[in-house]
Amino acid sequence: MTPTAPAPAPARLPTEPPPGCPFDPPAGLDRLRVEEPLSKVSLPDGTWAWLATRYADVRAILGDQRFSSDTTRPGYPLSGMTGGAPVDGAARGFIRMDPPDHTRLRRMVTRDFMVKRVEALRPTLQKITDELCDAMEQTDRAEHPVDLVQALALPLPSLAISLLLGVPYDDHEKFQHLTGQLLSRELPEEERATARKELLVYLNGLVAAKEAEPGEDILSRLLTEQYAQGELTREDVVAFAALLLIAGHETTANMIGLSALSLMLDHETADQLREDPSLIRGAVEELLRFHSIIRNGPRRAATEDVEIDGHLIRAGEGVIVAVPAANRDEATFPEPDRLDVCRPNSQHHVAFGYGIHQCLGQALARAELQVVIGTLLHRFPGMRPAGPVDEVPFRTDMAIYGCHELPVTW
Ligand code: HEM
Repeated sequence: MTPTAPAPAPARLPTEPPPGCPFDPPAGLDRLRVEEPLSKVSLPDGTWAWLATRYADVRAILGDQRFSSDTTRPGYPLSGMTGGAPVDGAARGFIRMDPPDHTRLRRMVTRDFMVKRVEALRPTLQKITDELCDAMEQTDRAEHPVDLVQALALPLPSLAISLLLGVPYDDHEKFQHLTGQLLSRELPEEERATARKELLVYLNGLVAAKEAEPGEDILSRLLTEQYAQGELTREDVVAFAALLLIAGHETTANMIGLSALSLMLDHETADQLREDPSLIRGAVEELLRFHSIIRNGPRRAATEDVEIDGHLIRAGEGVIVAVPAANRDEATFPEPDRLDVCRPNSQHHVAFGYGIHQCLGQALARAELQVVIGTLLHRFPGMRPAGPVDEVPFRTDMAIYGCHELPVTW
């Protein structure tokens, strides 16, 4: 009898961009999308999960409620997952829940993130951006190039979400530090757990302060309405705060940094946007598609056997949806590797996910990006990287892609 050959071990989940192409998706995803669009990949802890790389399959999975977002479900691929919100404990947040809990909790804050609400915030976002740009202008660039990440990309979303939650401005450095640690792929799990605890201690204190003295923010409203009526526990309110803060902060910051850098390097597109600012909205959609900063997610666990693209995903198996690969699928986006701000269907990208968990803060993220890009193009037409681009430290070590630092001059 001929012995059967052992099944080949699944390839590792790709995480690094191809050498010299910092804006491209992790190397290997392109090949998988063509040759094996639904493949098995191994994770850092030795387990494996399905990896979906085609646009159609990604939408099919994210739109199918037989795939669960509940991280406590058997088979949920937790390994190497450091992005987004806490994955365990009381502060899991509704991003990690399924209906009906997800539906009930998400509904409580939907109105705060609706386009109309966000549009009312736009003048404040512009004011914050203008002030941060004023401060940049006043620095002595001859001595030190300005780090756009610290000067603008991180503070704007931090201030925007702090305003919505009623977080005091003075605490924002502490947040950036703690959320940065939570999202690090390289930090040992114990240190991430410590950062998570510290953040929760802080947020508990903030919720207690709002309970004693409610303000005009989301947390105060959740306390005076849903908590007062017994629809939420105090832990639930803390979980809201943790989720909104983490989900809204580092994501937008990294999109700002990458968008600014790609426009600094693409003079033709920058000139086009300066000449016709009405193109900026479409440009933001294209930048979201092109950069696809969520590198190794979203993730799900199958709760039933489901057939996708001829493959049977069994109940209890994990699935990773490769947003960067889906957004470069040429079946949906012709010439996908080209940044084309006039592309007619950029807005069909899945950078904000798809289905019931589609990003709650997308209108806010869009508004911030539109304001920042418009302002930078207008106020700093000569802005450029202060050194060679291959010396920019890209976040290949993080679940949310971007630049650790972006030294610029003008
Ligand atoms: C460019 C910036 C952003 C990107 C690329 C992004 C991306 C995403 C993605 C891909 C998901 C889906 C996760 C899943 O399906 O499991 C998501 C969900 C979510 N995002 Fe964002 N996000 C951004 C900004 C924001 C902002 C500014 C906020 C709010 C302050 C926010 C709040 C949320 C929340 C609460 C969820 C969970 C929604 C749910 O489970 O129903 N995000 N985001």
